[in-house]
Amino acid sequence: MDNSIWRKKPMAAYEADMKKSELKRVLTKWGLTSLGIGAIIGGGIFTLTGIAAHNHAGPALALAFIIAAIGCTFASLCYAEFSSILPVEGSAYAYSYGTVGEIFAWLIGWNLILEYMMGATTVAVAWSGYFEKLVHLFGVELPVSLMNDPYTAGEKLGVEGPVPAFNLAAFIITWLVTIVLVRGIQESAKANNIIVMIKLAVVIFVIVVGAFYIKVENWHPFIPDPAMGADGKMHFGFGGVMTAATVVFFAYIGFDAVSTQAGEAINPRKDVPFAIIASLVVCTILYILVSLVLTGMVKYDTLDLKAPVAAAFADAGLPWAVFIITIAAVAGLTSVMLVMMLGQSRIFLGMAKDGLLPKFFNTIHPEYKTPWKSTILIGLVVSIVSALTPIDKVSEMCSMGTLLAFAMISGAVLLLRYQQPDIERPYKAPLIHFVAPMGVIFNLLLMTQAQAATWRAFLIWSTLGIIVYFVYSRSRSNLNKSE
Ligand code: ALA
Repeated sequence: MDNSIWRKKPMAAYEADMKKSELKRVLTKWGLTSLGIGAIIGGGIFTLTGIAAHNHAGPALALAFIIAAIGCTFASLCYAEFSSILPVEGSAYAYSYGTVGEIFAWLIGWNLILEYMMGATTVAVAWSGYFEKLVHLFGVELPVSLMNDPYTAGEKLGVEGPVPAFNLAAFIITWLVTIVLVRGIQESAKANNIIVMIKLAVVIFVIVVGAFYIKVENWHPFIPDPAMGADGKMHFGFGGVMTAATVVFFAYIGFDAVSTQAGEAINPRKDVPFAIIASLVVCTILYILVSLVLTGMVKYDTLDLKAPVAAAFADAGLPWAVFIITIAAVAGLTSVMLVMMLGQSRIFLGMAKDGLLPKFFNTIHPEYKTPWKSTILIGLVVSIVSALTPIDKVSEMCSMGTLLAFAMISGAVLLLRYQQPDIERPYKAPLIHFVAPMGVIFNLLLMTQAQAATWRAFLIWSTLGIIVYFVYSRSRSNLNKSE
């Protein structure tokens, strides 16, 4: 028996998994791209832009988006090559299990939990912010203690430290999404396409209409002078722009979700890499334009922190525009939550099928045919954390997990070029000796910008992952049985 922590899942096991799959191959490369855009545009652009510009970058928000995009571009090229090697549905976890080895796959899977679960949590909090704006349009004011976590509520009430509060809206939307997922969502490409169209239309609307309300003086100074914040961190200056890049990195997360749909792609080995790169390119262009418009419409230090895009249009005296943006944001954010929580349950499912997680995670509901127990567990965690934690904390945890996963993938793709030079690669990342090391360096560099508290939580999470692997997963892996 191969007891090595680097043992690989054999190709035959993937083929057996694929044979069992009843998915229809219907998605074209544009269908896949649309899925990618649907997963990408969400809380990052609609909400975190406010925090990033107000606290860290000022009008240089656009620069922060460019810096974050560079790291993502390197990672996406590597991801695209990785996804073309194994024509299977799955994620970076599945790809690395078959190519690099078990411990590596486990650590990626463990980090993807942060990406998907904390990602869904962040979007739930963002959803609550836009929902509050929506009901406000109808003259309804919801109590601060029921729309915020204890820390944010404390800040709003001008109190030092936490106060009794619970973000009920984030809690409720999470359970609604959970119910939909348990009952089985036919994530039909058609429904997704409609939501993507609405989101894209609104983002373009923001750019085109907002452009008429730009006041050039709001862009000066483009990078405000560095200053020490009340939190003991440097704000603004180039350091501030780098911190903002870590914050808005969240906005790009999701292009990898395309790979989870590979089982439904007509031509996965060519079209998945295409869709990963195309969706990232489209979103990068849109994000840069939105940030220029937003910081041009509103002076950065008066940007709203919860629903900055809608608030900018409210300040410009365009209530009808606020209405359109808010409705689209609420719908669009719900769809991102769906994709993230769906992705999480499917990654758990894959890990449980491989024996690395308990059977609990691949118990399928007899009637709905969904992994209902793990979906409910995910709902429980996301709903409670989103009700009690400030958005910047959860989004940073999400980014940390994703950044490390991206750095690991970039490294793995280069490693594989040496270890298995003859493997068929329908898509090859260009200039791999430059792109892969830059992917590693850039993504690790962005990790260093996170706050100390995030680092502490992240180190605890990673240590826990290593303990679980050695205590539980290693001895229960299917690879123990099959050999
Ligand atoms: N990129 C996704 C969002 O911004 C996660 O919501």
